[in-house]
Amino acid sequence: MIKIVHLTKRFRETIAVDDLNLEIPKGELFCFIGPNGAGKTTTIKLLTGLLFPTSGEIFIGGYNVQTEPLKAKSLIGYIPDSPFLYEKLTGEEFLSFIAGLYGMKEADGKIEEFLGLFGLSDYKERLISDYSHGMRQRLAFSAILLHHPEVIVIDEPLVGLDPASSRLVKDLLRKETAKGKTIFLSTHTLSVAEEIADRIGVIHKGKLIVLGKLEDLRKKAHSLGKLEEVFLQLTQE
Ligand SMILES: Nc1ncnc2c1ncn2[C@@H]1O[C@H](COP(=O)(O)OP(=O)(O)O)[C@@H](O)[C@H]1O
Ligand SMILES: [Mg+2]
Repeated sequence: MIKIVHLTKRFRETIAVDDLNLEIPKGELFCFIGPNGAGKTTTIKLLTGLLFPTSGEIFIGGYNVQTEPLKAKSLIGYIPDSPFLYEKLTGEEFLSFIAGLYGMKEADGKIEEFLGLFGLSDYKERLISDYSHGMRQRLAFSAILLHHPEVIVIDEPLVGLDPASSRLVKDLLRKETAKGKTIFLSTHTLSVAEEIADRIGVIHKGKLIVLGKLEDLRKKAHSLGKLEEVFLQLTQE
């Protein structure tokens, strides 16, 4: 469960996030969409405790991110828009490291399974510094699914993935939601939200301008078209 209460983040004269209120229940896949500079990455950095809010509060599984950061963060699995990975580890070593970090025992089978699933078996003994963006992204997904967090937060999840990996990731995220995980995705790729989201929030200039299911967004935009058209109408004021 994620709860965001009157969240505001200013950078000097810019209000990146402007009085955001949002509640995402357990078992929901939520997509945050908006044009470049709308405030998606800033919101995600606030959620994961990487940035401190100017005002407002965030709760993850009931824990306040500012006052109980360790408890809140222990529930989150986070993939940033350009994942930082340990360049001098191999893909396999990195996953073993993650398994160790989260106190997983006998994770080798799982590690092999995810490396296979994400097409990384042939590269598992190569250094991450040699991986392409898409391979890093797939490794980051393997790490998340390996340690199985309650809350999954991903900034632009499908950027750099080939169509097969993209399909795989979408299916796996739906499966995780069905298992009761809470998922928060940001995307500017509308078709992604349209395809997998339970609910969608549109952010524009730091403000949440619409929140609801796809049908609600369509109603709001007085349109029966694709989300793309709806989105363009909503952000064109
Ligand atoms: N560290 C920062 N310092 C100053 N301004 C920032 C910083 N990070 C983001 N911004 C500004 O905040 C706004 C929202 O940015 P961001 O959250 O990255 O948008 P999005 O991820 O939706 O593209 C933009 O105007 C951006 O320039
Ligand atoms: Mg961003």
